[in-house]
Amino acid sequence: MSEHFFPADEILLDSVIDWSYRRILGGEDPLTGARPASELAAELEGSISAEGIGGRAALKQWAETIVPATRAMGDPMNLAFVPAAPTAAALTFDLAVSSAQIMGGLWETGAGAIAAENQTLRWLADLAGFPADAGGVFVSGGTVGNLSALVAARHAASHSRDGRPQRWAIAASRAVHSSITNAARVMDVDVLWVDGDAEGRLSREALDAAFAAQPEQADGVIAVVANVGATNAGIVDRLDSVADFCDHAGVWLHIDGAYGLAAMASPKVRAGLAGLERADSFVVDPHKWLFAPYDCCALVYRDPAQSASAHSQHAGYLEQIDREVWNPSDHAIHLSRRVRGLPLWFSLATYGTDHYAAAIEKALTTTHEVIDGIRERDHLDLVMEPDLSVVLFRRLGWSEKQMTEWSDCAARDGVALIVPTRWHDELMFRMCFVNPRTRSERVLRVLDTMM
Ligand SMILES: Cc1ncc(COP(=O)(O)O)c(C=O)c1O
Repeated sequence: MSEHFFPADEILLDSVIDWSYRRILGGEDPLTGARPASELAAELEGSISAEGIGGRAALKQWAETIVPATRAMGDPMNLAFVPAAPTAAALTFDLAVSSAQIMGGLWETGAGAIAAENQTLRWLADLAGFPADAGGVFVSGGTVGNLSALVAARHAASHSRDGRPQRWAIAASRAVHSSITNAARVMDVDVLWVDGDAEGRLSREALDAAFAAQPEQADGVIAVVANVGATNAGIVDRLDSVADFCDHAGVWLHIDGAYGLAAMASPKVRAGLAGLERADSFVVDPHKWLFAPYDCCALVYRDPAQSASAHSQHAGYLEQIDREVWNPSDHAIHLSRRVRGLPLWFSLATYGTDHYAAAIEKALTTTHEVIDGIRERDHLDLVMEPDLSVVLFRRLGWSEKQMTEWSDCAARDGVALIVPTRWHDELMFRMCFVNPRTRSERVLRVLDTMM
């Protein structure tokens, strides 16, 4: 081993790898989570000092203080927000990706890794039915993916339209994820709100009505955002109908599938997503339902020339970059980047795409077993048939306070994470299933403690 200015103590490396190995195999999932900041600060006091405390002491703080004060997103009883379920292959390979020190922004520095990421994006583009020259990039999450796609949409609109409207706008249903309103704020554009059907699903008719009612904003719409799995209730918009509207209006169609679009890997689900192939861009987060570690969002464009035109950075020190090759930095709001698509590539290569489809279908089966169980229990009330794997339900007769207390108690005891949400002005319970290791019997046993 060559000499290191910062010595690499082999025993310490072994300890870190040994800790990771045990954690990847799922030995010590902490589900219990956060502690008060003052307690954590006291326990970590002195860890940053002029001389350092040494790797061994730092690793002890990691194992005994830091990790136990987090929640394991991959625990099979973590059903809150959108959990995760990274595969052993993906987690292990994340260590290799860090160790290889690849700068994935430019082909020049990351060619091999970028080629593998592009294969993975191609798999997703094929599932969506995008053309052969579609392309994209892995970014940190759905928030950055949505923002980057919408910036590309505005760039395309500003180059293709005669005359500028007073204000640009994004059209979206009220079910859309908060990252879309955040993107509108960052871009300083308006949101043209569209009322969908009773559950909030977007359609051509809903868009027609909203555009007719708000003609000034409609004039400046740069993109319609459609959901495949809106976070709160998991709903899927009427994609074909929305695509008809966008074709007719000449507006960019962006699909936010950060959580739900993973399900297109299941042929059964893909069959119900007609119209997806007509979008201009989509995002899907492998760290949600494609069994990859944080942080990872796949952003794919129908026409990458548009994203390159919107996002390429130019500077004296970047003048020598070959612009004829695939530079991922050209397709989103970033320059340097980790090749964060590689854990997914390795996992897909290891297990195969059929296994992925089976794992996604397993989570859907669990969802249906749980909703059957909810229907059988008198104290529970299913709010709606899920489009994918988000389940909303009521505990009949409980106040908001009782719901919150039950949820806090289940979290504190490490039994399950089932966090209430507000939907249509009502607080109710919400569960999101992405983990093929989650067992419906175990979930129903926990729901029985609401009796
Ligand atoms: C539908 C949807 N879009 C966007 C996001 C934002 O993704 P991220 O948290 O990866 O930035 C989420 C996160 O849950 C989501 O569910």
